[in-house]
Amino acid sequence: MKVERLDHYGRGIIKKDGKIGFIKNALEQEDIEYELIKEHKNYFEGISKSISNESKDRVKPQCNEYLICGGCNLLHMNDELKVKFKQDKIFNILEKLNTKINELVYSSQYNYRNKVVLHVQNGKIGLYKDKSNELIEVNDCLLLSKKINEIIKVLKDYVKEERKIKTITIKLGNITEEVMIIVEGEIERYYKLLDLCNVLIINDKVITDQESIISYIGDKRYYVSKNSFFQVNYDISTKIYEKVKSYIKEMGSKNVLDLYCGVGTIGIFIADAVENVLGIEVVEDAVKDANKNMRLNNIDNISFRLGKVEDLIQDIKGIYDTVVVDPPRGGLDKKVIDSLIEINPKNIIYVSCDIMTLRRDLEMLNEEYNIIEVTPYDMFPNTFHVETVMVLEKKDV
Ligand SMILES: C[S@@+](CC[C@H](N)C(=O)[O-])C[C@H]1O[C@@H](n2cnc3c(N)ncnc32)[C@H](O)[C@@H]1O
Repeated sequence: MKVERLDHYGRGIIKKDGKIGFIKNALEQEDIEYELIKEHKNYFEGISKSISNESKDRVKPQCNEYLICGGCNLLHMNDELKVKFKQDKIFNILEKLNTKINELVYSSQYNYRNKVVLHVQNGKIGLYKDKSNELIEVNDCLLLSKKINEIIKVLKDYVKEERKIKTITIKLGNITEEVMIIVEGEIERYYKLLDLCNVLIINDKVITDQESIISYIGDKRYYVSKNSFFQVNYDISTKIYEKVKSYIKEMGSKNVLDLYCGVGTIGIFIADAVENVLGIEVVEDAVKDANKNMRLNNIDNISFRLGKVEDLIQDIKGIYDTVVVDPPRGGLDKKVIDSLIEINPKNIIYVSCDIMTLRRDLEMLNEEYNIIEVTPYDMFPNTFHVETVMVLEKKDV
């Protein structure tokens, strides 16, 4: 079958008997034979088995588990195609919005992740095979930071004796290289783990004196505890926050709302450029971290509220000239969009990790706001995900 083009997940699109197929490890214009993975009512999924005319953009994946693991999607593409794929994806999805789209900002392709959730099964530790609960052992994962890979090597022997562990999560502090290990399941002897980490948490119980790690973004330091969200890629999150701060300075923002603020990351990063910031976040531990982070960075013009944005935003009145939103993949609740329009800020800065929900939200905000520009960021190299920062400006009435 001839591959027509790529879909938004980096799979090759083919047509067979009028039905559309999405094929892993297949590039545009290649002629492939494929193995069927799953037949659906209106489409099918497969994986290429042989290719008769390999694309000039194809490279040999640097990982033996690539075709069975769900972690990476683009390892068979050369670097130029990886960039083009993400750039085209953003263009195609945002085309109708008629906005300026800057070039993809990228950094190192490998060893960037500071967090991983590993599964343990039958004395082995690894990741799940794509769309299944079958374990693939991790051998020097290309995406994980080198320090995390070193820890996994030690854990391989450890889990041979501790077979009742279910998951082990590792979080690594940027720059500080402090390590948090979170174990779920039954465990007999944990003292060996203490040599590997600064913070050990077993089934919600903190074993060590220290209960959070310190991580950096740019020159700001942040406490991160077990349940708190933290960006996985140091280089790119630093670039994103610098971009947000440059907008804030350019726009002369004074009162800023930081919605979905996590451990206060963006608000604290921009605080010295504005008069005051209010952050809203639903995870209690993250808000506790955020208050500690404010003191850690000697900042006193920021405060945080615990709760759902969609609930708390209803009571917020319009002193805010700029609102920064950084929601999870589901994007903004309709109630949040209505309230944003009522608060009536001059600018909205939308940091998004899901381009489809971003487009949906923009279609609603578009009546009141002009989209000034979008910048895509390669926060998750070698996967199909793209992070974007977009700035909106209130339309003149
Ligand atoms: C993509 S993260 C961004 C965090 C932060 N801005 C950062 O850069 O680290 C989204 C955050 O929104 C929080 N969250 C999810 N749903 C929420 C809701 N309905 N209301 C408030 N916060 C929410 C999550 O706990 C998470 O901390």
